[in-house]
Amino acid sequence: MLMLDFKFFVLYFIFIFHLIPAQEYNVRSYGAKGDGVTSDTIAVRSALAAASNTNGGRVIFDSGYIFLTGCFNVTSNVILDVRGTILGSINVSDYEVISILPWYGYHTDLVKQPFVYMYNATNVTITGGGTIDGNGPYWYRCMINDTNPPCYPYGRYATDKE
Ligand SMILES: *[C@@H]1O[C@H](CO)[C@@H](O)[C@H](O)[C@H]1NC(C)=O
Ligand SMILES: *[C@@H]1O[C@H](CO)[C@@H](O)[C@H](O)[C@H]1NC(C)=O
Ligand SMILES: *[C@@H]1O[C@H](CO)[C@@H](O)[C@H](O)[C@H]1NC(C)=O
Ligand SMILES: *[C@@H]1O[C@H](CO)[C@@H](O)[C@H](O)[C@H]1NC(C)=O
Ligand SMILES: *[C@@H]1O[C@H](CO)[C@@H](O)[C@H](O)[C@H]1NC(C)=O
Repeated sequence: MLMLDFKFFVLYFIFIFHLIPAQEYNVRSYGAKGDGVTSDTIAVRSALAAASNTNGGRVIFDSGYIFLTGCFNVTSNVILDVRGTILGSINVSDYEVISILPWYGYHTDLVKQPFVYMYNATNVTITGGGTIDGNGPYWYRCMINDTNPPCYPYGRYATDKE
C-alpha cells in the first residue's frame, strides 16, 4: 500500500515537471538570424532581457547557427544554453561603455563592456556544448594598438598612459 502511494507520488511529480517546463527564451524567437553575418545583437539582448524580467530561465542558442552579437548581460538564474556558436561582433559600437569595476586596477573610469558580462549575478549556468568565440585575435590587435580606432578611446590603456 505504502509502496503504491510512493509510486504515484513520483509519477505525479514527473507529470507536473513535463507540464511546466523552465521558462525558455530562444534567441531565434527574438529575431536572431544566426547566419554569422547579420547582427543579432538586439535579438540576443532582448532574449536575455526577457529572462531577466522573469527572474531567470533558459536562454537558448540553437546548434547549427552562428549568432553574431555585441556584448550582453547575463543576470541571475539564467542558464546560457549555448548549443551553437556565439560570435563576438567586431563593431566597436556593439560594446557599451560602462564604469570600470574597482578590481580592474586601471586608472581609467570608463571601459568597454566585456563580451559576456555578469555583474552582481548569482546562479548562472553556461552549458550546451557549443562555442563562445570572442573574436580574440581582432580585439587583441586593437588592444595592442590602442591609440587608433576602433578601440580608441576606450581601449585597455586609453586614458591610462602615465
Ligand atoms: C549591462 O549592465 C550594465 C550595468 O551593470 C549596464 O551599464 C550596461 O549598459 C548593460 N549592457 C547591456 C548591453 O545591456
Ligand atoms: C537557479 O536557476 C535555475 C534556472 O533558472 C532555477 O531553476 C533554479 O530555481 C535557480 N536556483 C535558485 C536557488 O534560485
Ligand atoms: C555598429 O553597431 C551599431 C550599434 O549596434 C549600429 O548602429 C551600426 O549600424 C553598426 N555598424 C555596422 C557597420 O554594422
Ligand atoms: C546587487 O543585487 C542586489 C540584489 O538583487 C541588489 O540589492 C543590489 O543593489 C545590487 N548591487 C549593485 C551594486 O548593483
Ligand atoms: C596600428 O595602427 C597603425 C595605423 O592605423 C597601423 O599601421 C598598424 O599596423 C597597427 N598595428 C597593429 C598591431 O595592428
